Amino acid sequence: MKSFSVASGKGGVGKTSFVINLSLALSQLNQRVVIFDADLGLANVDIMLGLSPKFDIRYVLNGTLTLKEIIYQTEYKFSIIPAGAGVYELTQLNSSQKLLLKTQMEEALYPYDYLFFDISAGISDNVLFFSQLADERIVLVTPEPTSMADAYAYIKVVYKKGRIKNFQLVVNMVKDEEEGKKIYQQLLYVVEKFLPEVKLSLLGVLHYDECVKKAIRSQVPYLMLCPDTKLSAKIKEIAYKLLNQKSQKKELEFQEFLERFSQL
Ligand SMILES: Nc1ncnc2c1ncn2[C@@H]1O[C@H](COP(=O)(O)OP(=O)(O)OP(=O)(O)O)[C@@H](O)[C@H]1O
Ligand SMILES: [Mg+2]
Repeated sequence: MKSFSVASGKGGVGKTSFVINLSLALSQLNQRVVIFDADLGLANVDIMLGLSPKFDIRYVLNGTLTLKEIIYQTEYKFSIIPAGAGVYELTQLNSSQKLLLKTQMEEALYPYDYLFFDISAGISDNVLFFSQLADERIVLVTPEPTSMADAYAYIKVVYKKGRIKNFQLVVNMVKDEEEGKKIYQQLLYVVEKFLPEVKLSLLGVLHYDECVKKAIRSQVPYLMLCPDTKLSAKIKEIAYKLLNQKSQKKELEFQEFLERFSQL
């Protein structure tokens, strides 16, 4: 099992849409995928998919159900772990809640190939917790200077507080590949200058496409609604890239994942 956190610092840059469509693309490649809606107080993944799961993370945190019991199998093959909507208490997990999640993840997530933490905006303690929990960190950014500034702030905090040095960038809402690469180079310049130990690689570039809004309104993944756009081709490209990156030694990776759990 390989886990990724998807964060951005700034809100509304496309994290949830990205996670859902990437999960679908990987499912279409016969990978077993689960999305952990880590925007704990403001559940969005289920809404974007038009689902109404009966149970959510609140049932786990109050001890009624286990994490495994709340995993919801969607019609798109991948599964989700739903967050709670409008639950202020979830916006800052306490240490016993974190421990509970870590302990239950081992049993619940073992059968999956990929886990994506769809992380909330900001640089809160929850954001840091899920970013540290994941094997790899994806940072989503758009060409807006505010988004770039917040992505840098996120990387800085996770590096300084979590001692994490590797990040993969996805540039979203670009007009063409060139713009995406330019944004990557600009962010890389700042990261190399001020955080020389941090390694930032480019995972992919995603085009701006009106279909995303249409898909969200229709509550279906854009990969289903508009499979032949440049954007859908790019999402599939990222899915292939992750598949190629994946080590064959699944068991070893899972052990590393558990070791990191115990250090948190
Ligand atoms: N590639 C894209 N092209 C056009 N619009 C996009 C694209 N990606 C995302 N959007 C739009 O951006 C908005 C926010 O998307 P989304 O909810 O996925 O972002 P988010 O980062 O998860 O937000 P939040 O921080 O609130 O969780 C949506 O209205 C969506 O239509
Ligand atoms: Mg979101």
